[in-house]
Amino acid sequence: MDDTGARAEELFLEVFESLPRQGPGRRACTARALALCAGLPEAPLVLDLGCGAGAQTLHLAELTAGRIVALDLHRPNVARLGATLAARGLERRVLAAWGDMARPPVPPGRCDLVWSEGALYNLGLARALPLVRELLRPGGHVAFTDAVWRVADPPAEVREAFAEYATMGTAADALREIEASGLAPVGHFPVPDEAWWDDFYTPLLRRVGELRAQHAGDAEALAALDAIAAEAEMHRRHASSYGYDFFVARRP
Ligand SMILES: C[S@@+](CC[C@H](N)C(=O)[O-])C[C@H]1O[C@@H](n2cnc3c(N)ncnc32)[C@H](O)[C@@H]1O
Repeated sequence: MDDTGARAEELFLEVFESLPRQGPGRRACTARALALCAGLPEAPLVLDLGCGAGAQTLHLAELTAGRIVALDLHRPNVARLGATLAARGLERRVLAAWGDMARPPVPPGRCDLVWSEGALYNLGLARALPLVRELLRPGGHVAFTDAVWRVADPPAEVREAFAEYATMGTAADALREIEASGLAPVGHFPVPDEAWWDDFYTPLLRRVGELRAQHAGDAEALAALDAIAAEAEMHRRHASSYGYDFFVARRP
């Protein structure tokens, strides 16, 4: 990575590590997906893959009486969630763990619930869902959000922004992946636009604004901050062509 790339990465982390969440989502969506997971034991074992700073982990800790293992590959996220758990007295029930979701630290067939908001795309659903299936006990549930196309021919700008997610498809494609991995779809619903704006992009743009003021006169930093804000601006223009859906499925 050259110096400009390193600076952009540094500012990206400075923005994202301060946010309440690292992707779209909100408590009401987490609660709605959880309500689709019928027959959970009173104190389920929950694995939260790609937990980020743990916004949804904390909702799950409120909404269930279970034990939660929250896993993330970015150490500062794990440290931040660990500190939040300690401050809230939750560390005996909820563990923030560093690790790769491709090799989760939980034996197969034990999880009552695998959760993942905006993170399975790092492996791609075709690779992630069979792994998730193996982690679930029979009858266990998985709930995850994933980016989906909502139109047949999305604008080039949006396609380019999602270029890293080469296997992104429609909601119907995700349902096919769920079934192909041996899971039974239970339900799915779109993550509403408030979950993009109120919970994600508004705090992101506020933080970008603060950093713009701090770095006024530093063209390189301002360009990097503009690039971060551009994703939110793109969403303002093109929200009808893509979005996040919540999917819930069950291991038969
Ligand atoms: C878009 S963020 C979503 C974070 C959080 N779930 C939320 O909605 O706020 C994706 C997260 O996945 C994590 N991640 C990426 N690849 C991973 C992997 N292989 N194993 C575990 N976590 C991973 C990233 O560090 C990041 O925190």
